[in-house]
Amino acid sequence: MKTIKMYHSGILFFFGSVLIISMLFSGCGDDDDAGDQQSLYQKLGERAGIESAVEKSILAIASDPDLTPFFAVLLQDENGEGPGLEALKDNIADFIDEASGGNATYSGLSMQAAHAATNPRMANTENITNATYDSFLDAMISGAKQAGISNESILSEYRNLLEQSRSSIVP
Ligand code: HEM
Repeated sequence: MKTIKMYHSGILFFFGSVLIISMLFSGCGDDDDAGDQQSLYQKLGERAGIESAVEKSILAIASDPDLTPFFAVLLQDENGEGPGLEALKDNIADFIDEASGGNATYSGLSMQAAHAATNPRMANTENITNATYDSFLDAMISGAKQAGISNESILSEYRNLLEQSRSSIVP
C-alpha cells in the first residue's frame, strides 16, 4: 500500500514539474512578440523599400535650405561627369541595408571620413552641427514616410538606427 502511495506521489510530482516548466517556457514565447522577430531590414520592405525611402529622402534633403549647402558639389557632379547623387543613394542604401540586418556590405568611406569638413565633396568648410544632423534625420524620416512606411514604431526604430551615427558625424 505504502509503495503504491509513493508511486502515485512520484507520478504527481513528475507531471506537476512538467506543467510548471511548460508554463514558465510558454510565458517567454508570447504571440505578441511575433512582430519583433522581423529584422528592421524586413520591416522597411527589404532592399526595394530602403532604396525607395533613400530616393525620397534625397529629394527631401535637396529641398531643405539647411542641408543643400552640404550637397552643392554632388548636385553639380550629377550634371557633370562624376557619379554624384546616384552613387550617394546606392552607398546610403548599402549602409542602411547592412545596419538594419540585410545582406549588403557597405564599402564606402567611414562615417567620420565622409562627413569631415575637409572632404572636398562635402562642399562646405563648416562641420555638421547637431541641428544640421536633426534636419537630416527629419529628411530621412520624411522620405521613408513618402515611400509608404507609415507604422510609427518602425519609423522610430529607423530613426534610432540613424541616430547611432551622430557621434561619428557631428564632431
Ligand atoms: C544618419 C546620418 C547619416 C548617414 C547614415 C549618412 C550616410 C552617408 C553615406 C553612407 C555616405 C557615402 C560615403 C561614401 O560615398 O563613401 C554619405 C556621404 C555624404 N553625406 Fe552623409 N550621412 C548622414 C548624415 C549626413 C549629414 C547630416 C550630412 C550633411 C548635412 C551629410 C552629408 C553628406 C555628403 C555631402 C556626402 C558626400 C560625401 C562624398 O561623396 O564624399 N550626411 N553619407
